[in-house]
Amino acid sequence: MIEKVKIIDLPKILDPRGNLSFLESNIHFSFEIKRTYWIYDVPGGEIRGSHAFKKSREFIIALSGSFDVVLNDSKNEVKYSLNRSYHGLYVPNMLWRRLENFSTNALALVVSSISYDQNDYIRNFNEYKKLNEHVKK
Ligand code: TYD
Repeated sequence: MIEKVKIIDLPKILDPRGNLSFLESNIHFSFEIKRTYWIYDVPGGEIRGSHAFKKSREFIIALSGSFDVVLNDSKNEVKYSLNRSYHGLYVPNMLWRRLENFSTNALALVVSSISYDQNDYIRNFNEYKKLNEHVKK
């Protein structure tokens, strides 16, 4: 799954009045948007996330400021630093992920392929590892 993670360049319409970017389901990522949430006012040093999703696929954008998305498939770990409002990170399901190193005024926009479902969360890394092995078989 970690190989499927990718940064997508979103359109950037330059305009002297101010720039504009956008994203569309099935064009910039291959799922229908079911939900959007955003993370903001993160105190220095705090970490959000630290879990995996069984089904939810996500597309993450640093609309303002910067932060790191760290992804781990229990064998490899990769870190993506997001700091452009026209770059989106596609994150497949079944990857352990955390968001950290938030700058002041960072605004993380997340679009998800599913409605909120607390049963979609895997919050225990050992459980994630076990499920991941099972999925790969
Ligand atoms: P959560 O995803 O658990 O954040 P983190 O992994 O960073 O701790 O969300 C925190 C709380 O917000 C949790 O109680 C559930 C609630 N929440 C919703 O109600 N709807 C949502 O779409 C999301 C993402 C969270």
